[in-house]
Amino acid sequence: MASRIVAENLSAGYGAVQVLHEVSLRVESGETVVLLGTNGNGKSTLIKCLTGIIQPTSGSIYLERDGERINLAGRSPQEIVNLGVALVPEGRRLFPKLTVTENLELGAFRPAARERLKDNLAFCFEAFPRLAERRHQMAGSMSGGEQQMVAVARAMMSDPQVLLIDEPSVGLAPILVSRMIEKIKELHDHRALTVLMAEQNFNQAIKIADRGYIIVHGEIAFEGESADALKNNEMVKQLYLGA
Ligand SMILES: Nc1ncnc2c1ncn2[C@@H]1O[C@H](COP(=O)(O)OP(=O)(O)OP(=O)(O)O)[C@@H](O)[C@H]1O
Ligand SMILES: [Mg+2]
Repeated sequence: MASRIVAENLSAGYGAVQVLHEVSLRVESGETVVLLGTNGNGKSTLIKCLTGIIQPTSGSIYLERDGERINLAGRSPQEIVNLGVALVPEGRRLFPKLTVTENLELGAFRPAARERLKDNLAFCFEAFPRLAERRHQMAGSMSGGEQQMVAVARAMMSDPQVLLIDEPSVGLAPILVSRMIEKIKELHDHRALTVLMAEQNFNQAIKIADRGYIIVHGEIAFEGESADALKNNEMVKQLYLGA
């Protein structure tokens, strides 16, 4: 199923504080797009808008599935999950006192995913053998890297077409960041996912991104139409490559 997601002129914030200023962004079906931004520039706020956690004050968001255009603004997070858009939230947000398996099962809450729970659980355990080994362990007692695996696997349990991932690299050792990024690519390839990933780790994100955006103070400061366009951008060199 082809799914693309488009945000146009999105403004949003918290109370009187406006964070996003007329942000436009699209992720075409099957693409992996990176949203680059250093701390506090609005990456998570944008992802929260796309997933219904906060509502934009203006602008539009829609999901296009097989040519059908579905408006996402005004919808609840639950409705958006039901439309096949899954979130791996910043900071993982696991249920620490539940086991790995229980966390994953909760990811399969949406009706379309419940039917496929067994298959998807097997798929996740195959993708993350460590989680299979630790399936009865409480999620809160897992290492940071393992918890990130649970968060990604839980999102996959909702059987999504679109996967939004908010800073998967945070708090992980470099080798684990590499593995997580590779795993995201593998899931993307296996399931023909449409992926939007917020990241600050440019060198890792660029390994799998088709293209990307740089967000600065809640505005899209640069749109790179390819990985090379991003690598050669002056702002990227300054902000992310220490030039
Ligand atoms: N719940 C909130 N209430 C008020 N202000 C908030 C809230 N969440 C975020 N902000 C503010 O919105 C701005 C953008 O934050 P956001 O979390 O979107 O940035 P980010 O790019 O995801 O940063 P980071 O890389 O640190 O996660 C910041 O100035 C932040 O203080
Ligand atoms: Mg964030």
